[in-house]
Parts: sequence; structure tokens; C-alpha cells
Amino acid sequence: MDSKVEEIKAILKKYDQEHLLNQYEKLDENHKKRLLEEIQNIDFELITNLYKSTKKEEKNNKDEITPIEYLDKYKLNDKYKYYESIGKKAIKEGKLVAVTMAGGQGTRLGHNGPKGTYDIGLDSHKSLFELLADRLKEDGKKYDVTIPWFIMTSKENNNATIAFFEKHKYFGFQKDKNIFFFTQGELPMIDTEGKILIGEDGFIKLAADGHGGIYESLVKSGMTKKMKEMGAEWVFIGGVDNCLVKMVDPVLMGIAIDKKVTVACKSVVKDNPHEKVGVFCKRNGKPNVIEYTEITEEMAEATDKDGELLYGESHILCNLFSVDAIERMGANPLPYHVAYKKAKYIDKNGNLVVPDSPNAYKFEAFLFDAFGTVDEMAILRVKREEEFAPVKNADSAGVDCPKTARELYKKFHKID
Ligand code: UD1
Repeated sequence: MDSKVEEIKAILKKYDQEHLLNQYEKLDENHKKRLLEEIQNIDFELITNLYKSTKKEEKNNKDEITPIEYLDKYKLNDKYKYYESIGKKAIKEGKLVAVTMAGGQGTRLGHNGPKGTYDIGLDSHKSLFELLADRLKEDGKKYDVTIPWFIMTSKENNNATIAFFEKHKYFGFQKDKNIFFFTQGELPMIDTEGKILIGEDGFIKLAADGHGGIYESLVKSGMTKKMKEMGAEWVFIGGVDNCLVKMVDPVLMGIAIDKKVTVACKSVVKDNPHEKVGVFCKRNGKPNVIEYTEITEEMAEATDKDGELLYGESHILCNLFSVDAIERMGANPLPYHVAYKKAKYIDKNGNLVVPDSPNAYKFEAFLFDAFGTVDEMAILRVKREEEFAPVKNADSAGVDCPKTARELYKKFHKID
């Protein structure tokens, strides 16, 4: 043990992170063991580079952003049936699986627990997970298949998520047969000096590393292998916080197959230039999404000759990938985006600090940054009222909240 501690101390010294063991002598044996393990799992080179990146000027401002082409689902005319029949055949043959990204907590909703366990206030009091499960089962039935469902959790909410599914008998799915759970990665949070934080519990302050890690997690957890063993070729990846997410779409699949693209995404028309959604674009000639936090006002408001927004195809986290593409994407790490957040921590004297303004950096990779690794992808514009009812904020925000999602859900499902 002692030699291990010495070894770790040397690493910490090298990276100027010696404070991580400040309280070490005061800890009990179990705590000591876990803390050492956590430290050994840190990629200090990566953290050092990420810290350096926080000091750089906006790195994307030299990128050339241009509009991207899309197809409108309801203007496909004769091609609609053609794509649909290709997609239907593939779905019936068991070539599609679905993944739900559910690594988030319901913090913004004031919900204490995994976001998927949130009840949006329907008379049925069904959780987001159950609403998604209902639709997936119902859509599978149309093609005489059960679409296997993969749920991405985070370390923070994995146990609570599985316990919730267990309590609800996996909503009719069978664990390890047609419903599977895998966990996304985490990264330490650092302060403005680049020091890794110790959280309230005395361990490394870790935060989910964004959904960009999904490709690597799918591969490393053996999920892509499992998908292939099942005969699946296509993976729909969606967020947990859209209660109208349509995971089984034969038209989208038919387009991907017919056009021989490995990524096909759905979009809806941006509600207004400043709606908080990412929009599809080309970045240096490659498909990409420009996030609402990154788009300039001028770009957000730019219109074409018909008055339509030039960057008006919203990314709604409804993306279809070939399993092969996921494996390729999983082999290449994506860049991290920096967020400056409030984070409680234990200072070097062992005291808890509760900041009232942002004090720490969190690093997240975005799944759409992998789009740039393919030359062509298809974008299918669908109707917002049919496929996009996000639940992001508390009702007081008035948008993308339980109330608006409930209304859209009821309207679509014709519930009074
Ligand atoms: C996201 C998209 C945005 C899109 C909008 C549509 C990102 C970065 N941006 O914004 O382009 O227009 O949704 O609603 O995603 N999640 C994880 N693990 C993580 C982070 C997120 O599983 O580490 C899941 C969440 O549970 C949720 C989804 O990803 O299902 C979206 O994440 P969120 O951080 O809420 O993204 P938004 O800012 O709403």
C-alpha cells in the first residue's frame, strides 16, 4: 500500500495535483482505497490539455460554416412509399435497435432522480421512461418485432435507473434479452487554476463527460458486439427528454439504406431564430451541428431568398447510425467542450466550499461532433408536433417544460 501511495504521490507531483491527498491520512481504509483507485483512473495528460484549452481563445471561430441540404418528409411525394418500404423490410428483419441517452439528472426540472423517471403530469402519471417504452413497443408491434432497447446511464444515476426499471418490470422488456443498460464516462472537474476538485463526499469530483462518449461506451461495454450478434445493422440514438421521440421510423431508415449513408438525422424547423436548439450545418464542408450556445446572432437570424432561416434545421437528438459507423466513431475520441459551472468542493484545509457563482470547469463531448467524420449524411425534416416535445425546464420557464410537453403529447395521442 505504502509503495502505491508513494507512486501516486509522484504522479500527482508531476501534474501539480498533490492537494488530492491532503486529507488522506485522516481517511478510513475504505475511503483511502477508493480515492487511490479514482486517482489512478485519471488521465492526467488529458486533464492538463483540457485545462490548457480553457485558456485558449474561441477555437472554432475560423471554421467555415455553411448551410446543409435536407429532405422534407412530407415533400417526398412518390419517394415516400419507396423509402418506407425499404425501411419496413429492414425493421421486420430485425435490423434496428434503439438507444436512449439517459445519463442526465432532472436537476433543471427540480426533480431529484434520473431524468427518465420524471412524471410530466399526465393523468396516467407515466414517467418519461414509460412513455418512451410504450411507443417503442407499439411501433415494434407494427412490424412484428420487439425492438431491442439500450439505455445509457451515468455512474451517478445507474443504480437508481436500474432500480426504477426493476420496480416497473422493465415495462414489459426482458433484461439482458431485449433491454440492456450501459454507463457513460466521467471526467474530473477542475478549478480555474487547473486543480482537480475533491467533492463533498471526499472523493474526486467527477461529472458526466457528455453524450459524445456514447460511441466509445457502446463499443467498450460490448453493446455494439451484442447488436451485431442480434443481426442489427442500424441504431437509433435519441434523448430521454423528448416524450414524442419516434425511435422507429421506416422512412428515415429507408433513406439511409437507399442513399448508402451511415448517419441519418431528423430535424424540425426552428421555431424562432433564438430557440435553444442546435442547428445542422456544414463545418469546413463536413456535416455538423452548431450549438445554440455557439451560433452568432447574425447567423441565427440569416434568411434565404424565400425568407426561410439559413440555419433553420434543428437538431432534435434523433439520429440513426449504422452499427459499423458507431464502431468507427468509438475508436476516435471527440473534442471536449468546456462549461463553467458552480461546483461544491472540499478545499485544501478540508473545508466545504459552496460557491454562489461558477468556479469550476466541466468537460463534455457532443455526439454530433462525430458527424464530421462522415462525408455525407442524410437529414430528414419532420413535423415538430409529431416528434418533438422536449422536457428541459421547470414550468416557470414557459418553454420546453412539462406543461408544453404534456400539451404536445396529448394532442398527438388525441387524449382529452
Ligand atoms: C440538446 C442538444 C441540442 C438539441 C437539443 C434538442 C446537446 C449538447 N445539445 O441540448 O443540439 O437541439 O438537445 O432538445 O446535446 N445526456 C446524457 N449524458 C450527458 C449529457 C446529456 O445522457 O452527459 C442526455 C440527456 O439525458 C438528454 C440529452 O442527452 O437526454 C440532451 O442533453 P442536454 O444536456 O439536456 O442538452 P440540451 O442543452 O437540451
